Parts: sequence; structure tokens; C-alpha cells
Amino acid sequence: MIRIAIFGFGAVGKGVAKILMDRERMNRLIGNYSVVAVADSKGSIVSSSVNLKEALKIKEKNGRLPDGMNVIEIIEEVDFDVALELTPTNIDTGEPGLTHIKKCLKKGANVITSNKGPLVVAYKELSKLAERSGVKLLFEATVGGAMPVIKLIKRDIAGNRIRSIKGILNGTCNYILSRMEKERLSYRMILAEAKELGIVEANESYDVEGIDSAAKLVILANSLMDMDVSLKDVEIEGITEITPEAFEIALEKGYTIRLISEVSEDVLRVSPRLIPLNNPLCVHGTLNAILIKADLAGEIFVIGRGAGSLETASAVISDLAELYSC
Ligand SMILES: NC(=O)c1ccc[n+]([C@@H]2O[C@H](COP(=O)([O-])OP(=O)(O)OC[C@H]3O[C@@H](n4cnc5c(N)ncnc54)[C@H](OP(=O)(O)O)[C@@H]3O)[C@@H](O)[C@H]2O)c1
Repeated sequence: MIRIAIFGFGAVGKGVAKILMDRERMNRLIGNYSVVAVADSKGSIVSSSVNLKEALKIKEKNGRLPDGMNVIEIIEEVDFDVALELTPTNIDTGEPGLTHIKKCLKKGANVITSNKGPLVVAYKELSKLAERSGVKLLFEATVGGAMPVIKLIKRDIAGNRIRSIKGILNGTCNYILSRMEKERLSYRMILAEAKELGIVEANESYDVEGIDSAAKLVILANSLMDMDVSLKDVEIEGITEITPEAFEIALEKGYTIRLISEVSEDVLRVSPRLIPLNNPLCVHGTLNAILIKADLAGEIFVIGRGAGSLETASAVISDLAELYSC
């Protein structure tokens, strides 16, 4: 029996809970399992078998889980095999996820996370800690949402040296730029609409100034290309200065503009770039896309949904399968 603890019960946590309620799908994937704890910032439910339907209902009705142990107390007092760490990203301190992940790994529990913060702040430390404790730290959901990147490179093209990874890692910027391309409206106008749609981070500069993309680039560089870089090593330019006129000029010449993140031996950069209209990286809307260049496999393109409750939960579930696949 796999005992699962869920830390964070927001868009991703609830998406994961909904998939875990599909016993038929999940039993076929990982065998027998039980959720032994679910926590949000204000409360928790701890039981040998948490009723997820009930937990979702309570969260929906009250906006919070009932008073109970906090995450630290759960880690210290409850037995579980794997923690799903799905709390908000803080790329300056990594908290609260960093402390949660360290404590779980030290205790000998596997960790699956969608939270970029802890990995941006302390990837090397966390991966060493996992190794020393004989457990795994998996993080497919941190980059590209549903779009497979991490396991694709680590497992499916194992043995390759990665020469470069280049692509679109922020769906919000891509949405803004592809609408500017189509409608030649101003950046500000489309940003306001994107906010209404709820696809912009609470702190909008994370998205539009390229910081979210840079955080993902740091995770890719450190985990897949054996680098040891941090956010301050990334050259970052966002999309706030791009004008409809810039699109006019680009389109006349058969190009468009996209926010491209790129890592290779000599480049670690997030910046708006001209992309030929017929290039596969020229995706529209909130899609993400990457081009991987590997020494044996050559070029691989991946396109997919970079965010969303079930989409991101899909990546978390794929990590569960990586750990416990029947
Ligand atoms: N949403 C996406 O499409 C997406 C895609 C890729 C990666 N991610 C990442 O996945 C993580 C979760 O995203 P989300 O969209 O689900 O965020 P969210 O909707 O804001 O949910 C975050 C959850 O974490 C809880 N939380 C905050 N501090 C906590 C603490 N100290 N202890 C326990 N729980 C705590 C919150 O509690 P309350 O409910 O009480 O506020 C909330 O339930 C983030 O790191 C995000 O960057 C999200």
C-alpha cells in the first residue's frame, strides 16, 4: 500500500485529488494506495484513508480545510511513503516548500513537487539529500505543466548529451504575444484581458518580465545539463517593451516575436526573439514548446499545455507512475 500525503490543496492539489479519486485508472497505474493526509495553509485532514471527495467538498464550501496539523507536524508525526509538495512558488526563499521537501527527504519519504521555488534555490542540495536518504525527488510538473520535458530527457533519451534546450516556457507571455501578433493591440490592453482570464500570476512581473521562464530554465540547466547555475546567472529580458509596430515589421519579413528561453554551454538567456512563422516554436495561445538538441538523438520538439489544474496534475501523476508503476 502506497501512502500519499498532499501538501497544498489549490488548483494543482485539487486536480491531483480528482485524478486520485479515479481508482480504476490509478490502481492499474500504481496498485494499491491511500491518501493519508491533505493540507492547505490553514488546516488539514489526516486519516488512514482520507475521503478525497469529502475533502474537496469541504474546501469548496469553506474555502479551507478543517483545523488540524500543519504540514511540519504531519511530516513529523504521520507515516507516508511519498509527499506531493504543491504549495506556492517563492523563487527568492523557496519557502514553504523548501523546508517541507528537506524534512520529507530526511525522513526517508519520496517527494514529487510542482513547486519551482525549492529547486531554483537549492536543486543541488536537495538532489544530494535525496540520494543520501535513498529516496527520489521528482519534479516533472515544475517545467512545462503537462508538456513532458524532465523524464523525456532523463529517461526516454537517456545516454544523450544535451547540447541545448530552447523554447517557450511561459504560457501567459505566449498568450499576450500571439494575440499581439494577430490583432496588433497594445501589450497593456492584452495584459489587462489576460488578467481577467485569470492566467497572470498574482505578481505579474514573474510572468511578463521573464522571471518565471528564467526559474524554469535554471531547473532545466541544473537537472538535465549538469550545470550549477542560479537565477542571477540568467540574462533576462521580458516582453513589456514590445510594441504592435515591432510585430508589423517582423511579420512583413515572415517572422513573429516570442519570449524564448535558451540554455546551452554558452547561453543562459530569456529574451524576446524573432521566430520564423513556419518554425515549430511558433505556437499560439497559452501553449508551451521546446526544441531539444541532443548529441545522439538530434532534434526533438515537444509542444503542450504548460499550466492548468488537471494538466499540471497530469505531470504529478506521471511522477507517481515513475516511482510506483505496476
Ligand atoms: N496552476 C498551474 O497551472 C501550475 C503549473 C505548474 C506549476 N505550478 C506550481 O504548482 C504549485 C501549486 O500551484 P497552484 O496553482 O495549485 O497554487 P494555488 O492554487 O495557489 O494553491 C497553493 C496551495 O498551497 C497551500 N499552501 C500555501 N502555503 C501553505 C503551507 N505553508 N502549508 C500547506 N499548504 C500551503 C494553499 O493553501 P490555501 O488554499 O489555504 O491558500 C493552497 O491550497 C505552485 O508552486 C505553482 O507555481 C502551478
